[in-house]
Amino acid sequence: MAVHLRLPTAVFLLVCSGVLSFPVGQEKRDATTCGYQSCHATKPTMLNVHLVPHTHDDVGWLKTVDQYFYGDRNDIQHAGVQYILDSVVDQLLKNPDRRFIYVETGFFYRWWKQQSPSMQQTVKQLVNEGRLEFVNGGWCMSDEATTHYSAVIDQMTIGLRFLNETFGICGRPRVAWHIDPFGHAREHASIFAQMGYDGFFFGRLDYQDRNRRMKVKEQELLWRASDSLTPPMADLFTGILPNGYNPPEGFCWDQLCSDAPIRDDPDLEDYNVDDVVWRFLHAAKSQALVYKTNHIIMTMGSDFQYENANLWYKNLDKLIRYVNAQQTNGSNVNVLYSTPSCYLQELHRANLTWSLKTDDFFPYADNAHNFWTGYFTSRPALKRYERISNSNLQSCNQLEVLGGPVSRKGLFGLGDSETLRKAMAVAQHHDAVSGTEKQHVANDYAKRLAKGWQHCQVLVSNSLASLTGSSAERIYCDNLNVSVCPLTESSKKFSVSVYNPLGRTVTWPVRLPVNGTAYSVTDTQGKYVDCQVLPVSRATQEVRRNRGFASNELVFQVQAPPLGYSTYSVSLLKDQPSSSLLPHGAPTVIQNKFLQVTFDPDTGLMNGLINLETKQTIKLTQNFYWYNASDGNNYESQQTSGAYIFRPNSSTPLMVNSKAKVESFQNSVVQEMRQWFAPWVSQVVRLYSDSKAVELEWTVGPVPVNDRQGKEVITRLDTSIKTSELFYTDSNGREVLQRKKDFRPTWQLKQTEPIAGNYYPINSRAFIKDDMDQLTVVTDRSQGGGSIYNGSLEIMIHRRLLYDDYRGVGEALDERSEIFPDGLVVRGRLLLSLERPASAADAHRPLAQEVVSQPLLSFTDGDLSQNARLEFSGLQASLPPAVHLLTLSQWDKESVLLRLEHQFQSWESKVNSQPVTVNLQKLFSTLDVLGVSELNLSANQWKDEMRRFDWTPEKEEKPLPKTFEDLSVWEITLRPMEIRTFLLRVTFK
Ligand SMILES: *[C@@H]1O[C@H](CO)[C@@H](O)[C@H](O)[C@H]1NC(C)=O
Ligand SMILES: *[C@@H]1O[C@H](CO)[C@@H](O)[C@H](O)[C@H]1NC(C)=O
Ligand SMILES: [Zn+2]
Repeated sequence: MAVHLRLPTAVFLLVCSGVLSFPVGQEKRDATTCGYQSCHATKPTMLNVHLVPHTHDDVGWLKTVDQYFYGDRNDIQHAGVQYILDSVVDQLLKNPDRRFIYVETGFFYRWWKQQSPSMQQTVKQLVNEGRLEFVNGGWCMSDEATTHYSAVIDQMTIGLRFLNETFGICGRPRVAWHIDPFGHAREHASIFAQMGYDGFFFGRLDYQDRNRRMKVKEQELLWRASDSLTPPMADLFTGILPNGYNPPEGFCWDQLCSDAPIRDDPDLEDYNVDDVVWRFLHAAKSQALVYKTNHIIMTMGSDFQYENANLWYKNLDKLIRYVNAQQTNGSNVNVLYSTPSCYLQELHRANLTWSLKTDDFFPYADNAHNFWTGYFTSRPALKRYERISNSNLQSCNQLEVLGGPVSRKGLFGLGDSETLRKAMAVAQHHDAVSGTEKQHVANDYAKRLAKGWQHCQVLVSNSLASLTGSSAERIYCDNLNVSVCPLTESSKKFSVSVYNPLGRTVTWPVRLPVNGTAYSVTDTQGKYVDCQVLPVSRATQEVRRNRGFASNELVFQVQAPPLGYSTYSVSLLKDQPSSSLLPHGAPTVIQNKFLQVTFDPDTGLMNGLINLETKQTIKLTQNFYWYNASDGNNYESQQTSGAYIFRPNSSTPLMVNSKAKVESFQNSVVQEMRQWFAPWVSQVVRLYSDSKAVELEWTVGPVPVNDRQGKEVITRLDTSIKTSELFYTDSNGREVLQRKKDFRPTWQLKQTEPIAGNYYPINSRAFIKDDMDQLTVVTDRSQGGGSIYNGSLEIMIHRRLLYDDYRGVGEALDERSEIFPDGLVVRGRLLLSLERPASAADAHRPLAQEVVSQPLLSFTDGDLSQNARLEFSGLQASLPPAVHLLTLSQWDKESVLLRLEHQFQSWESKVNSQPVTVNLQKLFSTLDVLGVSELNLSANQWKDEMRRFDWTPEKEEKPLPKTFEDLSVWEITLRPMEIRTFLLRVTFK
C-alpha cells in the first residue's frame, strides 16, 4: 500500500491496441538476450537515470485477491490486475525499448492461465528479450515482521517454480524487491541471499535512519544477514529506493494521477516540454546527491498502476526523447528505460565498497509519533490460524509423500496439498498475516486457508488409510483449543492418531472434550497411559459459546515417532465419581519433576519460577495490562493507534486487575492454576508432567470499549533477572537478534515514543537473560513486544481500536464475527522456560519447533480394525537434535523436495552448534533414494549453477568464500543455520 498517492479515482479508459509498430517476429530472436544482457547501454561519463516502469499489486488489502485480479468492486478502490497485464503487454509490443517488471506471481499465474497460446507465445518473447522482467517472483511480496521463515520459503518456492517452468532461465528473477513491507527482517535478507538473488531493493525504513543515510550516501549497503553462515552465503546487496516506490513529484502519468502530461506540440496551448525537462533534470541531479554512483533509479509507477499503460509509456517515451536531446546542449543526464537488475548491474560494475550492516530494519517509523509496531500483533486470531495452517500444510505435504499416489486419489476421494499451499502463499502477503487488510479481506484469507485444509484432510485420510491399512473414517477436530469435538464428546470408544511432522520423537499433551468422568487410554502396545479428567473451565465455556457441550476434558500425554503416527485408544469407563474433578482450592505451588511455579496467596499472581534440575530460582510476577490507544486528540501529533500503528496515550499501562481469583487442579498428568482477572481476561498456568516449560494459556476478549477507549492488551513478566536494557527476539522464527532499549545499532536514535519505539516483532520467541538465568518465552504466533523495564518482558496479545490510523486501510481494527458480535475473543499460549544462558537454546529451539509443527490429530469412532497398523515412522531413525526436517513434499511423479536445516546458531550451544552429517540414503524407512541433486534454497536453480554478484564491504577484508566438501553425495554436512535443499528421486521399497 502507498499512502502518498491516494488520489481520486480517474475514469477508466479502454485501451485500443491499434497497430503494432514493432510486430513480433521481425527482430532477431535469441533466448540468451534476457537478463543482464538485455539492458540498454548507459553512458559512463553521464548521470544515468534508470526509469523502472512498475506496478505494486497487493495480493489482497482493501479488496480480496480475486477482486483485485478482476477489477471487481472498483467502488472500494479502482484496481484491476488483469487489465494491467493486458495493457502492459500491448504497450511493450509497441516499442522494443520499453521495459516493465512484474513482481507478484500469484497474480501473474491467474492471468497466464487465461491467455491464448499465441498470447502466451508473445509474452514468452517479451520475457526472452528482457522487455518484461520478473522481479522478486514469489507468489506474493511477503510481510517481514509477522511471517515465519518456513512459510516464506514455501511461498517463494511456488512462485519461482511457476516462473521457471513457464519461462525457463529468462523467468528467473535476479533481484528481490520488497518495496512496501513495513520494516525489514534480517532473516528475509538471509533467505534471499540463499535463493541466489544478486541484490535487494526496498522502500520503507525509519525516517531518522533514512536522513542519516542520505547525508552520508549510505542508501546502498551490504547486508550481512547471518552471524552463523560463512560470508558471503548470507550477504545481500541492499538498495533503498528514493521515493518509496513512487515516481518523483510531478512525474506521475498514470490514470490514477493528475500530473500534467507532456504537451509537446508548440502549435497547441500550454506547451511544457522545457518546463518538464528542466524539472526532471533538477529532480535527477538532486537525487544523485544522495547516492554514490553516476546511476540512479526512478520507480515509475505505484499501487495498481498501468491499467491504461498507454498514459505512462506515451509520456515516458517523450520524456526520454526530450531529456536526452539536451545532451547536444551540454546536458550530462542520460535517461533510459531500465529494470532493477539493469540498475543493479551498473552498481556492481562501479566496483565500490559498501557499508556493512548486520542488524535489521525494525521498528519502522515514518515520523516521530508514527511507529508501525501495532501490526506485529494486529488480528491475533488470523495470525494464529495462519501458523496452524502452516503446520497442517507441512503434515499434509509429508503424508502425500509417505502415502504415495493413493493420498491424492484414494478411499476418501480427491485430496490435494496445492489448495492449502496456495492459500498459505497468499496469506504471507504484507497485508494478510500482517493484519493490515480490511475485515472482509481478512475473512477471505481465513476462508482460503479453511478450504485448503479441507482438501488436505481428504489427502491425509487417504494417506493414513493406506499407511494403517484401515478404511475407518477419520474425523478432524479443529476446535480443540476451545474444547469442542462432537466425536469425543459423545463416543464411548474411539481412537486418536497423532501424526508428528518433526524428524524426532516428540511427546505432547492432548486435551479432549468429554462428558464422562473416567476413561481408560491405551497406547499402540495396549499399555495403559496415565490419563485424568478435569472440568471444563468457565472461561472455556464462555469462549466456545454454543458450539459444544462437553463438561470435562480428558488429558493425557502422547508420543509419536519421527514423521509418523501413533494411535491411542480411549474408552469410557463406567461413570465413576472422580476426585480430580474437584478443585484443590488455592495452593500456592504447582510443580512437576522439572519445574516449580509459585503464586502469591494474596493476589493469586505468579511470583516465582524454579528449575528443579539446575537449581535456578527467579522472582517472576506476571499480569495483564492495557495501553490506552491514542485517539489522535493530542497536542504532539494527531496520530491514532490503528491496524499498522501502535501509539499509546500514556507510557503507563493500566492493570486489568491487581488480583486474580484462582482455582487449582492437580493430578499426575497436569497441574494447573486457573486465574480469572476480569470478565474479559483469564488464564491457566499449566505444568504437564513431562514438560520442561510452563504453559500460560491466556483468553482475552471481548475487549470492552464501551468507555470509548481503544485497548492494546499486553501481558508482562517482571523478573529478578538483571538485564541492563537488553533483550532478544527472533527474526522470522530463526536467528536471534539482540535489542537494546532506546537504541539502534547503526544510528543515534532520538526516541520519541518510549513504548511503541521499543517494540519489536516476535515470531516464535523472545528472551531476557543475565549471567545466571535466561527466561525464554515461546509464542504460538507472531506478536509484538518489548523490554521497557530491566528484568521485564512484555508481549502484546490483543488489540481493539476505535479509529483508523490513516495508512490507507480506512477501518478501525475492531474485530467482530458472527459468533463474536461483541468483539473477538482470542486464546493463545506462551511457553516459559528457565535455563542457564549457555544451554538455553538446547531447550528453546526444540520447544519452538514443537509449537510451530504441532501434532495432527485425527479420530476414528469405535474399534479400529484388528490388523490396522497402529504406529508408523517415515524415518529410519530420529534426526540428530541439531537437524530439523524443514520440507518434505512431492515435487513431481518421481521426485520429492527435501530441506534439511541446522537449527542452531554458531554461538548458541556447546553440544548442538556443531556441524552434523546426515546420510540421505539412510533417511527414509519406506522410500529408496535413487538419485539426489542439490538446489538453491528456493529450488529454482541447481546449486552448482548458482552464481551471484560479489560485493565488497567497506573497512573489512573481503572474506574468502569457503567451500565445504561433503563426505559423499549421500552423506551431507550441515553447519550452524544452514538449510540445504535437495531433489530426491525416490521409489517405494
Ligand atoms: C575493482 O577494484 C579493485 C580495487 O579497487 C581492483 O583491484 C579491481 O581490478 C577492480 N575490478 C574491476 C573489474 O574493475
Ligand atoms: C527449470 O525449468 C526447466 C523447464 O523450463 C526445467 O528443465 C529445469 O529442470 C527447471 N530447473 C529447476 C532447477 O528446477
Ligand atoms: Zn503493498
